[in-house]
Amino acid sequence: MREKIEKLNAEFKHLDAKSSLEHFLKVYRGKIALSSSFGAEDQVLSDMILKIDSDARIFTLDTGRLPQQTYDVMDRTNLKYKTKIRAYFPESRDIEKLYYKQGANGFYDSLENRKECCYVRKIAPLKRALNGVEVWITGLRAEQSQTREEMQMLEWDESNGVIKLNPLILWKESDVWSYIRENGVPYNALHDEGYPSIGCEPCTRATDVGADIRSGRWWWENPEHKECGLHIKETN
Ligand code: ADX
Ligand code: SF4
Repeated sequence: MREKIEKLNAEFKHLDAKSSLEHFLKVYRGKIALSSSFGAEDQVLSDMILKIDSDARIFTLDTGRLPQQTYDVMDRTNLKYKTKIRAYFPESRDIEKLYYKQGANGFYDSLENRKECCYVRKIAPLKRALNGVEVWITGLRAEQSQTREEMQMLEWDESNGVIKLNPLILWKESDVWSYIRENGVPYNALHDEGYPSIGCEPCTRATDVGADIRSGRWWWENPEHKECGLHIKETN
C-alpha cells in the first residue's frame, strides 16, 4: 500500500484541489466521502465537491458538544446547496457510560479522559461513517500544526483501511479565505470572532492574533497531544 500511495502522490501532488477532486470523485464514485466539521477548509471542499457532483457523500461527526454557530452553518450549508449532509452521532449508551465514569466535563481532568471522550464522540462514529468508503477526503492543511507538516496530498490511513485525500494540504490560510469570499461560501461565524480552528465548544477557544492556528484547541495540553485521534499519522 505504501508504494501505491507514493505513486499516487507522485502523480497527483502537482494537481490543484479542484482537478484532484474531479479525478477521485469520478474514479471512486460511491466509495468516496468528505468528512466536514463545517470549518473554513471543509466549506471550501464542500463547495468544490457539490459543484462537481451534487450527490457526493459528505458527512459530519456531531459530537453533541458543538458550538451553536456550527449548527447554524450546518443548516445554512444544507439550504444553500439543497442537500442534507449526513450526521453521525455517538452511541447513546457510550455517552451514558462516559458520563458515569468521568462526569460531564471530565475531559479537562486528564489526557486519558479527553482521549476517551474524543473516541466515543468522534472516532467510533467515524468508523461507521467510513463503512464502504475507500477514499476519505479531509480538509487538512500542512501549516495547521507541527503534527501535520509532514502530511501529503495522499496518505494511507491504517486504522480505518482507507486512502486519505487531502486536496488542500498545501493551501495557506489566505488561499482558503480568498476562495470563500470569491465563491460566496457560507462559513462559521466563530471565524470572525478569532477562532481559526473550531471543534467542540468546551475544547475550543479564540486565539491571540498571530498565534498558532490550533492554539485554541485543547489549549491546556502540549502541542504534540493536540489531535483527537481522527488524524494520527502512521509511522511505519
Ligand atoms: S481535529 O482532528 O483537530 O478535530 P480539525 O478540526 O483540524 O481536526 O479538522 C481536520 C479535518 O478533520 C477536517 O477538515 C475534517 O475533514 C475532519 N473533521 C474534524 N472534525 C470533524 C467533524 N466533527 N466531523 C467531520 N469531520 C471532521
Ligand atoms: Fe470530547 Fe472535547 Fe473531544 Fe469534543 S473535543 S469529543 S468534547 S474531548
